[in-house]
Parts: sequence; structure tokens; C-alpha cells
Amino acid sequence: MLSSGDRVALLTSGGDAPGMNAALRGAARVGAELGLEVVGIEEGYVGLMDGRIVPLALRELDEASRRGGTVLGTARSKVFPTPEGQAKARAAIDHHRLRALVVIGGNGSLTGARTLLGASTHSGERLQVAGLPASIDNDLACTSMAIGVDTAMNTIVEACDRIFDTASAHRRTFFVEVMGRDMGYLAMASGIAAGADTVLVRETGKDEAAIVEQVVRSMLHAYQGDRGKRRVLVIKAEGVQVDTATLKRRVDERIAKVLPDVDTRVTVLGHVVRGGAPTAFDRLLGARLANATMRELALGKTDFMAGWTGPGVPGGPCAHDPYVVMTPLEQVLADTDKLHRGESPLAAWRRKIYAEVETILDL
Ligand code: F6P
Repeated sequence: MLSSGDRVALLTSGGDAPGMNAALRGAARVGAELGLEVVGIEEGYVGLMDGRIVPLALRELDEASRRGGTVLGTARSKVFPTPEGQAKARAAIDHHRLRALVVIGGNGSLTGARTLLGASTHSGERLQVAGLPASIDNDLACTSMAIGVDTAMNTIVEACDRIFDTASAHRRTFFVEVMGRDMGYLAMASGIAAGADTVLVRETGKDEAAIVEQVVRSMLHAYQGDRGKRRVLVIKAEGVQVDTATLKRRVDERIAKVLPDVDTRVTVLGHVVRGGAPTAFDRLLGARLANATMRELALGKTDFMAGWTGPGVPGGPCAHDPYVVMTPLEQVLADTDKLHRGESPLAAWRRKIYAEVETILDL
């Protein structure tokens, strides 16, 4: 159980995600209300190893919560998992009198959080550790949404709406590549929302030839006959094994004779997808996950991730919020690993939906 004045440190780690600042704001405000001293750690585990602990000003966080990125900075550290890195982090935890640590980040960041579970604190107690899921890839298990996903989807949809205008004007096909690492979630969800003609994701397991055929079929279907389509939008997840330039070249070769008047173009959205002001949903998601997390920590709970409820998320709601589910970090990491390997029920469900959507989008 945490006592008044106990120090809780927040860090953001891995790829930034819009809504991280809102989560920091929520944690700092709720922490203050509970009588805790909430501090920040600069640049994730790199800053923890260096003992870069900073005070958090509520006014500054109020402003920051409307912006993307993270005011604390973030990093992916290669040293932190090593014995030397672990020793430095543990020394900093003791030296800076940290009683609890909240890690806001993705899979790698939560894996790092778990390594600190046994760390001893200046008071002789074990460090309490909690995680908040934040990754635009939506590739974490035990939460239906991670912080940043909704904003990234909205950014993609807005970009696609703009591309539609110019694509229709020229009777063109656009390949739009979006982030998501190895996961097709972002591509598929935003593809449905944007009204794409076809979406390419790694999870379907298609080889290069099959992917080319999927696109060509969609193009023939759109431009031939009287279907009134003047453009085709292909959303491609970055994790698809065929690179986008190769895909364009191969499709161009295939359509040269059958669709001689149709041009193709490529737009790689890249890091544009990760920036920008968080949506209202991402701000609320960050705030609510942070609220429940701080309250659990205050009660002495440790070793959990706060997730957003939904199908496939194990466990019931926590005592602080009917939408928030607390899952032990070990289970989160094991289930996430299965999701990445395509072996979990969620992975199977996503594959089924992806196959169904392919034909529906093409109609
Ligand atoms: O995991 C978030 C993410 O944005 C992925 O979608 C992408 O593959 C990766 O990070 C990019 O990382 P970096 O910013 O290091 O290029």
C-alpha cells in the first residue's frame, strides 16, 4: 500500500503514440489527488538508468495533453536489458526513492517493466510496477485498444480522403502504405473506415504473386464494366513482405495491356501516422487507464497492465472503472507473443475478418 508522499515515477518508452501526454496528465492529477508525489523519467529506460528524474507540472501537462508525442521523451534502449543496464536502473530506483513505476508503451516497454518487478526500494519494499498500453500498432493482447490507435486511424482516413479526390480526378490507383509493424490491424481498420477497395496485410500469408493478383482483380473489377469507379485505393500494411515499389512495378506490368489508361501512384504515410493531436477517444483512454492504474498502485497492487475491455480481453472490470481490466504483466506478454505468432483466438478472429473483408470491399 502506498502512503502519502510516496514517489511514483512515470515513463514513456518505445515508439511514441498520441495520447501518451494525456495519460501522463491523468496519472499526475490522480496521483496528486491521492497524496502521492508523481515524477517523470526522461527518455524511457535510458533516462531511468541515468537517473534523469524530473518534476511534473500539472499546468504543463494540461497543455501537453492536447498534443501528440510525449513531453518526457522516449527511447528504445539496447543497454537496459543487459545486466549492466538492469543494475543501473535498480540503483536509480533506490537512489531516487521510487516506490512505484508506471510504464507507458508497447510490447518491448512492458517486457522491460517486468524485469524491474523484484527491484528493492529505499524503504526495503519491492518496487510496484504497472503498464499502460500505448502503440499505434494495436499489437498488445489484453486490451481492445492501445493508446494512439484511434488517432493513427483518423490520420490515415483523413489522408485517404484527400487521396481519393486526386485519384478520382485522374482515374488512378493509389497504393497507400501505412505503419503497423507486423500487424495489419491499423491498415485494415482504417481501410474499412476510408472505403478502400482492397487492403493488404501480412496475416493473410499470401505470397507476392497472390498479392499482385489481389490488386489486379480489384482494379479490373473497378474500372471494367459500368461500376462508376474512377479510382482504386489500395491500403498496404508496412509488414507485408512485398515492398511497395515492387508491388507497383509488378501491377503496372500486369495491367499495361488491359488497363492502358490507368496510372498507379504510391504514397507512404510513414511517421505522419504517428504524430498529431490525439483524438478525444485517445485522450480519454489515456486518462481513464491512468486513473485506474494510480488507484490500483495506491492500494498496493503491482505487476499489472490496465487494458480497455472488449471481446477477447480476459478478466472482469476493475473496481475503479467498468471499462478497465487489470491483467498480470506475465499474461499480457505471453498472450501478446501468441498474437504476434498468429496463435491466439484474437489472431484467428482477425484473420477470419481480414478474409471476409477482402471480398466485401471489392464488391
Ligand atoms: O511501433 C510503432 C511504430 O510506429 C511502427 O508502426 C513502426 O514500424 C515503427 O514504430 C517505426 O519505428 P521508428 O520510429 O523507430 O522508425
